[in-house]
Amino acid sequence: MKIIDKKQLAPAIVKFLVEAPLIAKKAQPGHFIILRYQENGERIPLTIADFDREKGTITLVCQGIGKSTEEINQLPIGASFLDLLGPLGQPYPIKKLGTVVCVAGGLGVAPLYPKAKALHEAGNKVISLIGAQRKEMLIMTEEMAAVSAELQFSTDDGSFGYHGFITDPLRAVLTREKVDEVVAVGPVPMMASAVKVAKEFQVPVVVSLNALMVDGTGMCGGCRVTVGGETKFCCVDGPTFDGAAVDFKELMMRQRYYRDQEQEAVHCCKSCKLEEVGK
Ligand code: FES
Repeated sequence: MKIIDKKQLAPAIVKFLVEAPLIAKKAQPGHFIILRYQENGERIPLTIADFDREKGTITLVCQGIGKSTEEINQLPIGASFLDLLGPLGQPYPIKKLGTVVCVAGGLGVAPLYPKAKALHEAGNKVISLIGAQRKEMLIMTEEMAAVSAELQFSTDDGSFGYHGFITDPLRAVLTREKVDEVVAVGPVPMMASAVKVAKEFQVPVVVSLNALMVDGTGMCGGCRVTVGGETKFCCVDGPTFDGAAVDFKELMMRQRYYRDQEQEAVHCCKSCKLEEVGK
């Protein structure tokens, strides 16, 4: 579980190349792992953003948005994670469909990339649309370009590509040509919007949900989502689901549950650091 290489992709976003031969051997697009970096540490679910079976490595992309993820991103090359559990979840089924539009927002590019790559290798025409808050937050653009027949960008502040949400270019592509499937990965409101647009054009849409997870094996119920009126667990039934059937309203509500505790944990840690500096 050693970190072989590490690269800062954007502010607070780090890519790790990790030695994990047993996971690499079985990994498929859509799979994820659960990572613990220290004893008593939080369990962090991260998508397998790439894998190399021959070299026995997997690629993980981590955004420092809380206490644990910020600490993980500080780990140096040569350090080891305490444990990695995986591959977990159901793989995204790769088929030759024709034209597939892959839409990602923010960190969603990391879980989208292995799907886009496999779709490309299966002979599909892949049109990729990537959105971010600003230019410096766009990640894995070269990797996405290598597997896409067409690649468009959007930024919220207009610093690169289309000025606005990525769902506008999605609407333009669906208006322009026949598309066989849309794959959308990113923040929940972005996926909900992409699903709405795909539904308008009656195009099947697949999403990868980033629900809160604890054990990752279907036992705690923390990652439950409602899909087609039925309760599903993201960790064992997903994280890939038929986007048209997902109850996004409920998912958004559940994602707000632990926000206060997380902010408290981060604040406590930073305050402690400030006190130490002041000594
Ligand atoms: S993370 Fe516990 S049931 Fe899915």
